[in-house]
Amino acid sequence: MKLYQTLETELKKEPNFVTDNGEIKKWVIISKAQNYDADLISLLLDNEELKQKFFIKVKTVLVFNQALFVQFMEQKNYLNDSYTAFKNKVGLTIDGKYLKQRNEVVLVWPFKDCVLEGGQSREEDKREEIFFNETLAQDEITQLLEPKVLTNAKRYSLQNPEGGMMEHLERNAELNQKRGLPENTITDNLIIKGNNLLALHSLKEEFAGKVKLIYIDPPFNTRNDSFKYNDSFNHSTWLSFMRNRLTAAKDLLSEEGLIFINVDDIEEAYLKVLSDEIFGIANFINVIAVKSSTPSGTKTVHKDKTIIKQKDLILVYRKSPKATFTPKYKRKEKWDTHFNYFLNKETKTIKPLLKVLIENQILTANSKLADFDINNNAHHEFYIKNAGLICQTQSHKSEDLKSKSRSLNNQVMIVNEGKSNEIMFYNGRQLTPLSSSLNRVIYNNSTVHDFSMLLCDFWDDIDFQNTQNEGGVSFPTAKKPEMLLARIIELATNENDIVMDYHLGSGTTCAVAHKIGRQYIGIEQLDYGENDSVKRLQNVINSEQSGVSKAYNWRGGGSFVYLELKKYNQTFIDQIEVAKDTTALLSIWAEMKAKSYLNYNVDIKKQDEHIEEFKALNLAEQKQHLEEILDKNQLYVNRSAMNNTDFEVSDEEKKITNDFYQLNK
Ligand SMILES: C[S@@+](CC[C@H](N)C(=O)[O-])C[C@H]1O[C@@H](n2cnc3c(N)ncnc32)[C@H](O)[C@@H]1O
Repeated sequence: MKLYQTLETELKKEPNFVTDNGEIKKWVIISKAQNYDADLISLLLDNEELKQKFFIKVKTVLVFNQALFVQFMEQKNYLNDSYTAFKNKVGLTIDGKYLKQRNEVVLVWPFKDCVLEGGQSREEDKREEIFFNETLAQDEITQLLEPKVLTNAKRYSLQNPEGGMMEHLERNAELNQKRGLPENTITDNLIIKGNNLLALHSLKEEFAGKVKLIYIDPPFNTRNDSFKYNDSFNHSTWLSFMRNRLTAAKDLLSEEGLIFINVDDIEEAYLKVLSDEIFGIANFINVIAVKSSTPSGTKTVHKDKTIIKQKDLILVYRKSPKATFTPKYKRKEKWDTHFNYFLNKETKTIKPLLKVLIENQILTANSKLADFDINNNAHHEFYIKNAGLICQTQSHKSEDLKSKSRSLNNQVMIVNEGKSNEIMFYNGRQLTPLSSSLNRVIYNNSTVHDFSMLLCDFWDDIDFQNTQNEGGVSFPTAKKPEMLLARIIELATNENDIVMDYHLGSGTTCAVAHKIGRQYIGIEQLDYGENDSVKRLQNVINSEQSGVSKAYNWRGGGSFVYLELKKYNQTFIDQIEVAKDTTALLSIWAEMKAKSYLNYNVDIKKQDEHIEEFKALNLAEQKQHLEEILDKNQLYVNRSAMNNTDFEVSDEEKKITNDFYQLNK
């Protein structure tokens, strides 16, 4: 058997390496080889011929000849893969080596120090884990990340519910002064459509160092195919994807800023290490575990084989030690029986609370203190009214005060009586009133002042089950409850601070920020149509009453500005992704030849000479090929090319672009 046949036979033994129609997932295997994947390497080692060919013996150790293996996988005619033959004729090389073959220096994962560019909704490709992972060189990166031309600007408000033309962006000097930002900072809420990496870079000049909170809920990499976007990256691609964006996001955070990254256990450990590196381990605050589901139905099918997941994880980092939090509380679910005394301030004596409750006929003679029911109206009324008198005892550090109090023998000692720092002691222990445990909380859709406990890093009180239609948009399985965002925004920001989410999805972060008086910036590439964040925010302006509306007494109003990054090559990618057949792709190719920017080493003549080979590829391969030959530096129009007539930038677009970047000032 020829070596390639042996290899094919062996690779086909591993179901993860084969597509549904029995073809080798070549790019997956190459990527695994580049990651020194243990399964792949042991499969090769198990075959004597492959072991001889792809391993070098150094003393007693076998070393994987990765470069040779990758080269072999990529070589012309391998496995009769005409796609490769076609691709190899096209080129895509740097220094004489094919891009995918270049085994860049790797610290933790391949491509770590490169920018990965690409789309996200590649329905047909995602099962094969193909994501554009073109590695770009430094000068290409600079061009890619240049600020972009803006288009389609509209301001939505009660007066303009469907979005109206706008003269310029608001820069309210007074508000900026109040919040300590430069007077000319944009004060409009912004929703930006376009690739989030490029949008983040376009925002830098205006917003660097000004954003108080970034919350993101990126794809968890669940390998679940039910999302509209790709949720099936390989580890290294996902990490590079996150790293590129987090590094840019960090620059936008203010010195007091905080970032909350919502993932689950699949990538959390990797993300923690990555984020430690980006934000500094000293700036790691905590990981919050949020109960996000209840075990029922299909979720529990494999309960005998695994431990069912019930939580999301939110990594929290600060930009610098200047960051602070506003402590948040949750309502107690039942009476805390440590509160078991009742104070008589006149006589400075105390009685057991149970006795007082029975005397007041709140409880009956045989009751226990645990029967005092926080959810019973009469009981609730009693403890709210007597919150300054119901007490618990706690230890205190001051030996002096403790011994003085002990000497008073059953008498309450009050230090600093009537002052804000009043403190009580009883028989050597501090006496703390319930009033110090009453805090503002959101409970049953309203804001109340009630018996509560400090929220720490375990949040099990947010309803994830009945929130799917919040905001009047549907976003199955991936949407977060407004209550979660309200909590995070309150914890990390003050009124008018800037909040940002660059994986906006259905717009939960911005909807909540709008309702509770924070400025926001939301970025999303996909258009979710009737369920898009723009629709949701229109509903919010129109005073929709779901989510946290009631708790914050939301009455509607306000405005936001919608902007798009002006597409160029991205337009072709969008068309390629939705193309239904080869005919459609061929007409896109005809237009690409006339109008698109192709990679510098793509020879149009050669492409056309080999067009029959192209036609012989399957649809997914044809799409991948056309996307690959497009120059990814030209996905969107660079601001610096605004006056280049090739890009057909309208006067309207020039006006908003100049206004946004303050180019006329
Ligand atoms: C879990 S959803 C966010 C849901 C959002 N928190 C909400 O409550 O509606 C993840 C978001 O990341 C976006 N996303 C997925 N893959 C992406 C990619 N490759 N590049 C940029 N954004 C991506 C998706 O479009 C989606 O909006």
